[in-house]
Amino acid sequence: MNITLETIDARTSVRSYSGSALRSDDRRRIESAIAASGPCPFGGRPRFSLVEPGVSDDVASGRVGTYGVIKNAPAFVVGAIRTAPYAFADFGYALEGVVLAAAAEGLGTCWLAGTFDRSGVTGKLRLNDGELVPAVTPIGEPAERRTLVDSAMRALAGSKKRKPWSELFFDSGWDRPLTEGGAGPWARVLGAVRAGPSASNKQPWRVVRTGSEAEPGFHLFLDEDKSYNSAIRGVRVQEIDIGIAMRHFEAAARALGLPGAWTRLDVPPVSYDDPLLYYSSWVTR
Ligand SMILES: Cc1cc2nc3c(=O)[nH]c(=O)nc-3n(C[C@H](O)[C@H](O)[C@H](O)COP(=O)(O)O)c2cc1C
Repeated sequence: MNITLETIDARTSVRSYSGSALRSDDRRRIESAIAASGPCPFGGRPRFSLVEPGVSDDVASGRVGTYGVIKNAPAFVVGAIRTAPYAFADFGYALEGVVLAAAAEGLGTCWLAGTFDRSGVTGKLRLNDGELVPAVTPIGEPAERRTLVDSAMRALAGSKKRKPWSELFFDSGWDRPLTEGGAGPWARVLGAVRAGPSASNKQPWRVVRTGSEAEPGFHLFLDEDKSYNSAIRGVRVQEIDIGIAMRHFEAAARALGLPGAWTRLDVPPVSYDDPLLYYSSWVTR
């Protein structure tokens, strides 16, 4: 599915749902977005299930506990991945594809890596050896009004705010910010990264542009908060944020007809220090 820039901008985390069951065409679209969510940039193969409490007697049905954070969601997308280097980035990339496809249909979602009953979902998915459940999302028609818990969660994370460009995007090296004006047609692509969801809205993505205006390269790094990133056992939650950023970058570039693809370079052309981690580069030639 082609995702528009308007869809990327309009997406927001929804924790309050109307309670209406999914319509059959929505269900079909979600299933096809799941089927089209790969291939993933690092070769991982996450698997996902659409779980609809009360609709199906399937083993994967039943409620997903969210400690009261999510209200009246008719369905969840739950998923698992085999742990491997960059597996969480692949998971983020893939599930954000489903999130954006849902947003395009006017359906709400909300990434949950902390506030859900992981052991309950683990039981439903019948994990294989080496697999774990990094995150899930509710999916459904948004309620007309947010619940108090929803508003409180948004206020706590400062969900509407984003860091200024000067803290996120850089020109040739870390000492020179890349301005919106200086980014040319790529400004809207970087804007799509900036609009993305991230755990606790920490926005840990950093991008350095190199090369010429005609053939730029964009190098993606994680500014890791180490204690935060290891707070959930076995899950590198900020690596999920990186995968989400990769999906947003790619979807926006495709929407604008800009060239390129993600490639992990052996040695990125930008030096970096701890706690920065290099992930991948958008290469245009
Ligand atoms: C990997 C990841 C994990 C998240 N985990 C939770 C969570 O456990 N509970 C929750 O209420 N929101 C969670 N969020 C949602 C973020 O708080 C939200 O994306 C951020 O505040 C930005 O708001 P927005 O999505 O409305 O733009 C998570 C987001 C991401 C990307």
